[in-house]
Amino acid sequence: MRFRAYAKVNLSLEVLGKRSDGYHDLSSVIQTVSLWDEIEFEDDVNLRFSASDPVLNGDDNLVKRAADLVQQLAPTRPGGSLVLHKAIPHAAGLGGGSSDAAATLTFLNDRWALNLSLQQLVEIAARLGSDVPFFLYGGTSLVTGRGEYVYPLPEPESAWYALVKPAVSVSTSDIFGLLSPDDWTDGSVTHEVATRICESATVTLGLNGLQRAVFLRYPEARACFSDVDRAAPGRAFMTGSGPTIGALCGSQTEAQRVTEAAKGAGRWTAVACSVACELA
Ligand code: C5P
Repeated sequence: MRFRAYAKVNLSLEVLGKRSDGYHDLSSVIQTVSLWDEIEFEDDVNLRFSASDPVLNGDDNLVKRAADLVQQLAPTRPGGSLVLHKAIPHAAGLGGGSSDAAATLTFLNDRWALNLSLQQLVEIAARLGSDVPFFLYGGTSLVTGRGEYVYPLPEPESAWYALVKPAVSVSTSDIFGLLSPDDWTDGSVTHEVATRICESATVTLGLNGLQRAVFLRYPEARACFSDVDRAAPGRAFMTGSGPTIGALCGSQTEAQRVTEAAKGAGRWTAVACSVACELA
């Protein structure tokens, strides 16, 4: 059997400040989109993991780490074989690894009939990574704290996204390390984006507090943003810690036009639409 792990885009991502534990407090509106990895599962005596891309093989993969944590909570120590088929680019700001982990938690909780509550899953997810709790919900959510407080928002009107990733991979911790207090904001822009979704189901873009650091470190990301912004003026945004640049589009055709206009030089492109919360 197979299950899906969807990618995300950050419609707004504000960094509120640095915490004493070294992480940053965030306020973000996140949306799952129709681009997904697939994880294949078969019952087995032992817990095994492999990935279609050998680079992602190994016990430190978030799928294996998620499965290990769930297995430890199962009195009978059930096993299974998990094979990750990757379609979401890695280190792209699209949350692929985090989504794989969350989908594995949800699937194994069900498959092994553990009855872990959503709150228990959120606690496990937060140990795996800051973005993982959001993916237990999916859909459209306001996310705060380090990423562990997830407030599902009503489903907005469906939107299309052009996605263009320049040929660089970004280390999230490097980017957070480059931030200065000048990059911090008070969360009001993200709050406004969330309020608009609640009140009028309209998707708007906020800001991304990681963008200055990413553009400084990776000029390719800035060039990609300029190309996307030229094709969709005022509707380009960087997702997560980048370097993927998105454009909020009114239709699939428009999103295709934008990816066509911005593709080139090793860039990866995709067209995706918003995906609603699966918990409902
Ligand atoms: O939680 P995760 O392992 O995905 O985070 C990767 C790195 O990004 C952390 O080690 C930290 O340096 C940085 N980070 C942060 N504040 C957050 C999320 C991530 O500083 N809210």
